[in-house]
This record gives sequence, structure tokens and C-alpha cells, in this order.
Amino acid sequence: MNLKSTYILLLIAGFYLPGRSQIKLAVKPNEVTSDISPQMWGIFFEDINFAADGGLYAELIKNGSFQFPIALTGWRLNKPKAEDQWLIINQQKRSITNTRVARIVKTTDSSAYTLTNEGYRGIGLLKNDKYNFSVWARAMSGNLKLRIEVLRSTGARIASGEIITTPGSWKKYELALTAADSVYGGVLKISFIGKGSIEMDNVSLFPVNTFKNRPNGMRADLAGLLDSLKPGFVRFPGGCIVEGRDLQNRYQWKNTVGPVENRGLIVNRWNMEFARRAAPDYYQSFGLGFYEYFQLAEDLGAEPLPIINCGMACQFNSGEVAAMDELDPYIQDALDLIEFANGTVQTKWGKLRASMGHPAPFNLKMLGVGNEQWDAQYIERYLVFEKALKTKYPQIKLVAGSGPSASGVLFDYAWKQLKTSKADFMDEHYYLPPAWFFNNAKRYDRYDREGPKIFAGEYAAHDKEEAIPESRNSWLSALAEAAFMTGLERNADLVRMCSYAPLMAHVDAWQWRPDLIWFDNLKASATPNYYVQKLFSNFKGTHIISVTMQDSIVAGQDSLFASSVLDKNQNQVIIKLVNMARSSKKVEIHIDGLPPDKFQARGITLTSRLSNDFNSLKNTKIQPQEKQYDILNSILAAEMAPSSFQVFIIQYGSPKISK
Ligand code: AHR
Repeated sequence: MNLKSTYILLLIAGFYLPGRSQIKLAVKPNEVTSDISPQMWGIFFEDINFAADGGLYAELIKNGSFQFPIALTGWRLNKPKAEDQWLIINQQKRSITNTRVARIVKTTDSSAYTLTNEGYRGIGLLKNDKYNFSVWARAMSGNLKLRIEVLRSTGARIASGEIITTPGSWKKYELALTAADSVYGGVLKISFIGKGSIEMDNVSLFPVNTFKNRPNGMRADLAGLLDSLKPGFVRFPGGCIVEGRDLQNRYQWKNTVGPVENRGLIVNRWNMEFARRAAPDYYQSFGLGFYEYFQLAEDLGAEPLPIINCGMACQFNSGEVAAMDELDPYIQDALDLIEFANGTVQTKWGKLRASMGHPAPFNLKMLGVGNEQWDAQYIERYLVFEKALKTKYPQIKLVAGSGPSASGVLFDYAWKQLKTSKADFMDEHYYLPPAWFFNNAKRYDRYDREGPKIFAGEYAAHDKEEAIPESRNSWLSALAEAAFMTGLERNADLVRMCSYAPLMAHVDAWQWRPDLIWFDNLKASATPNYYVQKLFSNFKGTHIISVTMQDSIVAGQDSLFASSVLDKNQNQVIIKLVNMARSSKKVEIHIDGLPPDKFQARGITLTSRLSNDFNSLKNTKIQPQEKQYDILNSILAAEMAPSSFQVFIIQYGSPKISK
């Protein structure tokens, strides 16, 4: 029987069993089987779908340093007088990574010489919000004035101001702007007024309101959604972008730190990956670099989990590998990264971290070696990294990869080879149809407990809806993930970290879907899958306890899936229950060992009657709804709505630790 028919059978079974008497579940808070990692539910950030530049990273100007191969990408130059000049100069003396500057020579007083930036699919400003315009410039002669405006596509002005330049050496000019109105698809226009010549670089328009008010920080609404997840870890910077299409275009963290105006640029690996979703203007500016990632993790209260290139480019692309006897620079990058994160300010890389504003260590505890690599070429490289890293930093936990799929020859090979290694975690990835997730809720109940722990590092149920981008984040996909996640939680002794993937997508610039959070230039939308993640993460508990139906784990019988945890800090019993049937279910949850008082429980439900329902930027149809239940004689009687996921929270004492 294939996955689809199994799923249909399960659905039919659920559908035709509505009238059954109450289903009894038994929860035993006194039978703790294991602790749960505080890092159990985290996030995986990759710069895909314009998630960094044009997304979480709040910079609004595309190609502000003219580093794209075509220097005017994103810009429109209006230079009506032939005698005026526009020149891109390669000036390695200023910076070896950001080498280009633009020279403007204006010979007449006419004000028509302008440069207009289109932003990332337009520039979005919010009414009354404040923005900082800045530009690095060297006025060489004359008295040029820069008029800075943000305009609607109709030409209507939303914000404006002027900068007077003074001949001299390179300096940063800044201008505070306030948006008179909201604009979605705006442009930034620089008009050069007067006569003179100037060189300029790093044109920037940045909101003042960033997450935690960090300079060079994150878009407040998007980071706020991440914050609400209460993630236990942040895995960064990818994904395939760690690997790059070839080794030259791999992610090198050292190019992403130091003054933002000196950071280089590389092509984003997702730029032309899918012809049907080509994004030729997709590059990585590294304004969001490793310092910012560490800072973000700290601001979210999450453990940082960087992934480093292990001398291998993406095997879906060139598959280029570094020669085995030439791995040293790659390994050195990994060792230096640990020093950057944890070294004292006396060390070379610790000093750089301090100079960027964080003298205290970031307290890095985990590192991933390679992303989604496979076969012998990965194993032999991983083992060399492992030896070097564990020798110098035995306390750092290492994440190894198990390849691109959830099973099969490559998967089995990786596990066989690495089972006895010193890897602390094996990273497993699964992008599969909803039926797979329902059918695999028991996946880890069967796993051998010897060897590395599991990091479910990338997963998402891939449904087939097509209408608009967010429609692949259907309710069915979220429900399937919830069912599967009860299995992850039940096996939290083995599965220590999990993250949905990918995390974010711009509705006008995506390459891959489904994604956890969709956004445009002004707004963000949490998918049903987001709320599933949030409910698991916000109520993750500290210890696993058993929940059974007729003495068996609950993984599909009567179309139900369940897991249960104890939160010893909050003094809560938490039960997560999924009803995949299209009929409601009456359940009686018998909770052993509660004092014989009358208790109340919170029940938080996510549901939709339509399996292809989804949330969009215009309409959040599926979101948590809360109600109270009475618990009498230790029994919580509830009705599970058709196709629903519900979390029950029973407070049996006062919280010991405030959340
Ligand atoms: O999440 C999208 C991609 O899926 C990741 O970059 C890669 O690791 C996997 O193939």
C-alpha cells in the first residue's frame, strides 16, 4: 500500500467512526521517561526566498555598494547631459572586499542628474516611522547637494531631506527621514544638485525601529514572530548557501564580519537555481553576517548553531570538493569561528567580536560540519574536521549530516559510517507529502538509542496546493506536521533538536515553498505551520511523560496522535493531541496522580474544516483559539474538533520560574 492510500484509509476510518463511545487516554505525570532538551524546538534560518536581504535584515536599498556584477542592478541612472560623468571605479585601497565606488561628475547646475533605487521588489515604509538614510562619500570638488526622496511609483513624495557635502576625505553622511504615509512599492531617489564631483558607496536606508533597537538590525515584525516562537536554538546561515554552487561561492563567515561597509558580496546560490522562479538580482550582501546572527540568537534567548562549509560545494550543483590534503584553510575557518564566538578579547577573533560591540563571549556550544552532504566524500572530510575540532574544543558539540533524504542508501550509509563517530547529533532532513508525516509518527519509537542524538534539522510537509504562494502551507500540511511532532516529542530522549524549513519567504520573491512565515515589504503572515511550531515550542515542557490509549502509544489509532510532557518549572502537565479525522472525537483524558481537587485546564486549538485552507497576508484564517475545561476526578473530557490540533495545559501548582 502506498502512502496516499494508507492516508486515505486512515481518513475513511476516522470518518466512519464518529459515534464511537468516548476514547480513553491515560496520562501518567509520575512516570517520567526522560528530560527534554531546552533546545528541543528551534529555528533554521537560511537566506532563501529573500529571507535575509529584502527580508529579516532591515536594509531597504538593493546593491547600495554597487558590488553586483552589473553595477547598476537595482538602480536607474538619469544623466541627460553627455558632458556629465558616471563611473564605477575599482578602488582596492579602500577595501579589498567592497572595491567599487561610484563617481558622479556634474558640470552644470541643472538638477536632472538622478539615481533611483528600486529596493527589494519596491521599498516599504510605514507611516510616521523614522528611517536613517546614509551614504559613504568623498566630495572631490564643487558644492554638490544631495536631495534624498522616497517616492511612490506615481511620483508622490513620502519622505525627503537634503545633504550638503563638503570637499574632503571619505565620510559617512546621514539624514533622518520620517514617512509621511505608508508606501509598499516605493523608490529612493537621489538628486545631485549644483556643480561638482563626488565618489560614493554604501547607500543605505534603514528603519530606526529594529528588533531590540539593534543598529544594522532585523525587521521588527519578522524578528518579533521569531521571538514569539521562543526558539531553543538558531541554526544559520543555511542550508545549501553554506555549500554554494561551487567552492568559490561557498559561505565564508570571515567575509561577513567587521564593518558592514567593508563586507563583500557573493551570488546567492538560489539566484538561478529554479528557472521557473529565477531571481537574477539575488545576491548576499552580508549586511546580515555572523556577528548579527550570534546577536540575534542571543536576543531571542536561543543557542547559536552555525553550520560551516566542510570543503564541499552543493552536490545538487557542481559537487566540487576541496582536495583532502588541502582542507586546512576550511578547518582553520571552523576553529577561528569558535574563537570569534568564545575567545577572550585578547585573541585575534575575540578582539574582532569585541570591536563590533560584544566583548562578552557568545558562548557557542554547537557547530554543524557541512549541511546536507552525502556519500564517502562527506564522511572522509567530516572525520578530519571532527578530529581537529574535538582535539582543540572537546566541549563543542558537533552536528553531522545524514544526507538529503529521510531513508535510502545514502541515508543508511551515513548512519553506518557515523554511528560510532564522535558526532553528537545527526541532522536528518525530510520534505515529504503530508501522508508521510502521518505515517511516520512512530519513526523514532523504533530508533536505536546508541550513537549520536537526532537533530531533525529540516522538515516540512509538502502539500500540492497552487493558488497563491502561501497556499502550499495548507492546513493539512500543518496538521500532518503536528501529528509527526507528537512522535518527535515522545522520543525527546533521542530527538534533541528540531526545526521546520525554510523559515521565511517574500511573497514576490520566493524560490521554495512551503515556508513557515510569509512576508511582503510591510507585513508578515504566520502560517498554520507556524502556529503548530509555536504551540509545541511554547509548551515544550521539561520531561516526557507517557500518554497511552489501551496501553499503547497514541500514533494513529482512532485517527489520534498524542504526546505529553511535564513542565517542572511551570508545574504543568501538557498534553498535545491531534485528530486527523474529518469527524469530531470525544476523548476522556485520565490524568493519574492529580490531587482530588477540581482543576481547570486551558485548551488551545488549531483547526479548519478545509484541508486546503491557508493563511495569507490578507487573512489569518487559522490561528489558536483558547477555551477552559474543568477536570473532575482527574478526568479531562474534551471534544476534539474534526481535523484539529489541541494543546491542553493543566496547572497543578504555582509556576516556579516565570516565563
Ligand atoms: O530548506 C531548503 C533547502 O533544502 C536547504 O537549503 C537544503 O539544506 C535542503 O536541500
